[in-house]
Amino acid sequence: MLSGKTILLGVTGGIAAYKSVEIVSRLRKQGAEVYVVMTKAATEFVTPLTFRSMSANPVYTSLFEEPKTWNIEHISLAEQVDASLIAPATANILAKMVTGISDDFLSTVLLAVRTPIFVAPAMNHAMYHHPATQKNLEILRERDIRIIGPAQGFQACGSEGDGRMSEPQDIINVLEDYFSQSRQNRYMSGKKVLVTAGGTREPIDPVRYIGNFSTGKMGYAVAQAFAEAGAQVTLVSAPSEIAVPSGVEVVSISTAEEMYTEVLRRFPEQDIVIKAAAVADYRPVVRETQKMKKSNQSVRLELVPNPDILTTLGQKKQEQFLVGFAAETQNPLDNGWEKMKRKKADILIVNDVTLPGAGFGTDTNIVTFLFADGRRRDLPQMSKLEIARQLVEEIAHLKSKTKE
Ligand SMILES: Cc1cc2nc3c(=O)[nH]c(=O)nc-3n(C[C@H](O)[C@H](O)[C@H](O)COP(=O)(O)O)c2cc1C
Repeated sequence: MLSGKTILLGVTGGIAAYKSVEIVSRLRKQGAEVYVVMTKAATEFVTPLTFRSMSANPVYTSLFEEPKTWNIEHISLAEQVDASLIAPATANILAKMVTGISDDFLSTVLLAVRTPIFVAPAMNHAMYHHPATQKNLEILRERDIRIIGPAQGFQACGSEGDGRMSEPQDIINVLEDYFSQSRQNRYMSGKKVLVTAGGTREPIDPVRYIGNFSTGKMGYAVAQAFAEAGAQVTLVSAPSEIAVPSGVEVVSISTAEEMYTEVLRRFPEQDIVIKAAAVADYRPVVRETQKMKKSNQSVRLELVPNPDILTTLGQKKQEQFLVGFAAETQNPLDNGWEKMKRKKADILIVNDVTLPGAGFGTDTNIVTFLFADGRRRDLPQMSKLEIARQLVEEIAHLKSKTKE
């Protein structure tokens, strides 16, 4: 399963660093290309020379040393790897990953990678059970970082408990599982999928707009999940700070009308359309050409309805599979069923944006899938990416049933 894969192995400053030499050896025996990145502390435990000899590749220890290639190395390495594994992962690197601190090669490259990250924590059991470490692990899990172990047993510090790094073969097994699943999960191979994301902006004058709190996280996660599953994904996105998932084509728009035009133009060639954007229902009738001057008078803004993109797609659809999102603040299910029928969606994903852990800007969401055949599936709180992957599976399942 690992043959032909490029793996970044991050080694941090723990006693278990010596076991990572065996991880490199096993990965290479399976045909993987391994690039080792060591923290300064890790080099106190094992020399870079050992990893260089075992991996047959340069070992990265500093952002500022003479480059080994002419690229900006931490970025070009991040773009090459199919997965990253940090083993052993110190309490320190976990905390740095949570906060986004990027003060050495490893922590910087981890911010730049877009492929899955696996982490095998190793530390004294008191450090492992400290609330800071536990909270950091929880946050990393929510961000879809896969945590491997730790295992229980005798520790180098002389105590017993959990905190030992998982055995090299157990770590390799997790990587193998991941790659075997992702191979089977290419459910969407050959499918064209259009996803909308973000909150549209409706200009009032050259410096002001009416917007909403959507950040684009849900839509970007949907685009990522479909790309992972082998689809050709176009993301029509309102302004968003989020990094574009690899392999996804982006069409940047700002207003609801621009989104309408771009989506409608591409609609005939799509197999699946997922409308995850928060599109403004109204826009100002007049868009002032000059900045409105401040005065002590109250101001009236007249608003006109924007075209409803999902409704239009529902009317025009031929074979396309349509998914809508509904962000509700009251009676989410009743409103969801009504919306789904009116807009002729195949799946409507409803979320109550007032719940903690759900809605705009959060990494997690709590949603219910409503299906055109009357079924309903309530999902517990989970990362937006996990919800998106569940959606991919549901659609793949429904499409395979209609083929039978
Ligand atoms: C002998 C020794 C063993 C250590 N073992 C661990 C360990 O297993 N896990 C851990 O989180 N920190 C351990 N530390 C502390 C880390 O090396 C220290 O927090 C360091 O700053 C981690 O840096 P890094 O995350 O950049 O590698 C150990 C320190 C020493 C001196």
